Amino acid sequence: MTTEELVASFKNLYGDGDEIKVYFSPGRVNLIGEHIDYNGGFVFPGALTLGIFGATRKRKDNKIRFSSLNHPGTYEIDFSRAIEFEKSRSWANYPSGVISLLKKEGYSLSGADVLFSGNLPDGAGLSSSAAIEVLTGFMFLKESNQNEIDKVWLARFTQNVENQFIGVNCGIMDQFSVSLGKKNNAIFLNCQTLEYIYAPFDLGEYSLVILNTNKRRELAESKYNERRGQCEEALEILRKHYELSDLCSATLEMVENHLSDPILKARARHVVSENLRVVKAMEVLKIGDLVQFGQLLKASHQSLRDDYEVTGKELDTITRSANEHYSCLGSRMTGAGFGGCAIAVVKTADIEDFINKTGADYFSKCGLRADFYISGLGEGVHQVS
Ligand code: GLA
Repeated sequence: MTTEELVASFKNLYGDGDEIKVYFSPGRVNLIGEHIDYNGGFVFPGALTLGIFGATRKRKDNKIRFSSLNHPGTYEIDFSRAIEFEKSRSWANYPSGVISLLKKEGYSLSGADVLFSGNLPDGAGLSSSAAIEVLTGFMFLKESNQNEIDKVWLARFTQNVENQFIGVNCGIMDQFSVSLGKKNNAIFLNCQTLEYIYAPFDLGEYSLVILNTNKRRELAESKYNERRGQCEEALEILRKHYELSDLCSATLEMVENHLSDPILKARARHVVSENLRVVKAMEVLKIGDLVQFGQLLKASHQSLRDDYEVTGKELDTITRSANEHYSCLGSRMTGAGFGGCAIAVVKTADIEDFINKTGADYFSKCGLRADFYISGLGEGVHQVS
């Protein structure tokens, strides 16, 4: 959809009037470093070129109306009243949560009509929720004449929306990537300190392919919070023996020696080993060793499958099919897991064959049609017009 088409749909829905502004926020893909952002580890994500557009026009009252070309219904909130999470508000809870927190933080807001339109699949592990949260925050701050928006602050702020308003205890990775993404770069982020560097992402004759299992993530939120709780428990036990700032600063030896509960031991083993893999991945990418990079992707998936137990049949099947293809260097799940997407590094010349074979094998085993996207890494949230 072009900006002009979005603006035309906006006028169709809300009528003619003053100037309409358009903003864009990407989804994100994590290359490696899964379930360790909330354990103080390193992650290695990037913003996608797929994402969500938001068109907006100011109103003269205290009302904000949210609609989306991807979902039916228009949701209205009045920001002079308290805004609470309401199940019936469906997807519009994400932007409403942003408004609620902006208000609590004392920002002066103006009424607005908003129309979203995205090409990012929902609930597929590509951070559609972070995209809409960051987009709403950025758009309303810009519209209230905040010219310099601190994007690290924006990432933290929208993470709070997710934690406090939506009730998912997520880490900082998604909102950070969506806010601070940079074209053709991945972000090497220290989630302890929020220090980050951009790492040029050039795979030469290979491409990054995203594989959507089209298996909706079920109970993902409660299982996510449960995993987080287990990590906290493991850390508490280790802290009886060592001074540790977070679970990622433990060693594999500490984990083996002091965690007797097999579940806690496995969870912590994933966390500590995954953190080491991220650092290694950054090093091998720097020297263009894609074979090693692919091996690290495979090892990451195994650890998420066996120790962290967040993969499931569909993600295991699709990554196995991908890894069996002669042109694939490595494949792993990306994001929270429990369904959603995987990634694979595939020789660009053989992508069509890869998609055909992997898609067919996955369909024969899981009865679901996978979608494939070849998305470069793109810019973080920005104004389009
Ligand atoms: C979700 C969360 C992130 C991160 C990933 C797993 O995407 O929102 O904070 O924890 O899962 O790496």
